[in-house]
Amino acid sequence: MNRRHFLASLAAAGTQLPAAAPKNLKITSVQVLVTNPGQTTNGNYVLVKILTSEPGLYGWGDATCTGSELGVAKFLEEHLTPGMLGRDPMRIEDLWQTLFFLPYYRSGSVHMSAISGVDMALWDIKGKVAGLPVYELLGGRVRDKLLTYTSAGGRNYQEVEEGVRRLMARGYKVIKVQVSAPGLESGYAVPQSDRQRAATAQAHAEGVAPTEIWEPGPYVRTLPKLFEHLRKTVGEDIDLLHDVHERVTPSQAIVLAKALEPYGLFFLEDLLRPENLDTFRIIRQQSSTPLAMGEIFTGQWDGLNLITEHLIDYVRHDLAHVGGVTTGKKVATMCEPYGILTAWHGPGNISPITHMANAHVSLSVPNFGIQEYATGWGNPIREVFSAIPTFADGYVDVGDQPGLGIDVNEAAAKKYPYLRRLRPAIRRRDGTPWPY
Ligand code: CO
Repeated sequence: MNRRHFLASLAAAGTQLPAAAPKNLKITSVQVLVTNPGQTTNGNYVLVKILTSEPGLYGWGDATCTGSELGVAKFLEEHLTPGMLGRDPMRIEDLWQTLFFLPYYRSGSVHMSAISGVDMALWDIKGKVAGLPVYELLGGRVRDKLLTYTSAGGRNYQEVEEGVRRLMARGYKVIKVQVSAPGLESGYAVPQSDRQRAATAQAHAEGVAPTEIWEPGPYVRTLPKLFEHLRKTVGEDIDLLHDVHERVTPSQAIVLAKALEPYGLFFLEDLLRPENLDTFRIIRQQSSTPLAMGEIFTGQWDGLNLITEHLIDYVRHDLAHVGGVTTGKKVATMCEPYGILTAWHGPGNISPITHMANAHVSLSVPNFGIQEYATGWGNPIREVFSAIPTFADGYVDVGDQPGLGIDVNEAAAKKYPYLRRLRPAIRRRDGTPWPY
């Protein structure tokens, strides 16, 4: 849809936009909507709608921060919105900086998720004013479609292998593989045992955090055997990757990066807490396994040494937590001269609005690597959101609608209220708290 068609469609809906960018455009209202379409464990979305002085001209953004959803909603309403009312929504960078300095005690997941939601909504508005998709405003497409991956998890090697074969049959070229470790009833991105599933359901019913037991030793010894199994059974004609989720010690991280080297991973994700810079330097000396980091960063300053010392190969910043489209474009630009590629975080617990924003940035940056994309969006999601990036043969794409190309059915969203579903507390067998 080009600008002329867009204006015609607005006119048909009874809305008129002036031929040029509206003069004296102002933000008149910022609305926050918390919704959990399908009432799922991971699905509380914090949506931001910015309305303007131009009738019918508004934008949607995603401020979802799983684990702090209502904190972000309240922060937006009470501490950021008053700083935006009456200001020009076209001045995106100005507003980004204004909101960053406004609370004085700045940064962190709540503040930066709130800014991310506002930033996406402002880009959505600017695109609608221009009559162009956001990727056009960022410089235009550098590729026709986005290579993507999704996850295959199992309780044993055979289950993972079956999952990989199913995804290969759907056209996936890159697949994330996760397997349970012996003696553990849960793990990251693997199915839980029946007993753990019942315990988790019980905790959710009581409104408290479930507990999961984790031991990194069996995991570190198991993982290379999974890749050995998969390379023997599904062959070399598929790219595989894995997410450690920071669940190992620094020395175990070194062992893993070296042990996985023979299997030629696409990348190894979240190998270690990003604060362990000294260990990242050692790993780079000892292993050529490509590394990906960034999903828990909350701004363009986080992980800067990982980039400038070229200690990683892929950046995985979450555009709903680091400052939206604006920050995504800046991070990609910082990485470009180092040859570091993008792989924006794209799980199911951020809303389709961020998935659309991910796609717009990914389409427009030269140093794109891959785009994580959640599958299995249910009917309630499709009822609330007008668009989700489309998947075909291992790639995703967005259409050519102005802005981010996504609208929200607010009446439908209100049918699905916030649902408290605390994330699990991970502990060693001796009770020690451990990273999720
Ligand atoms: Co990860």
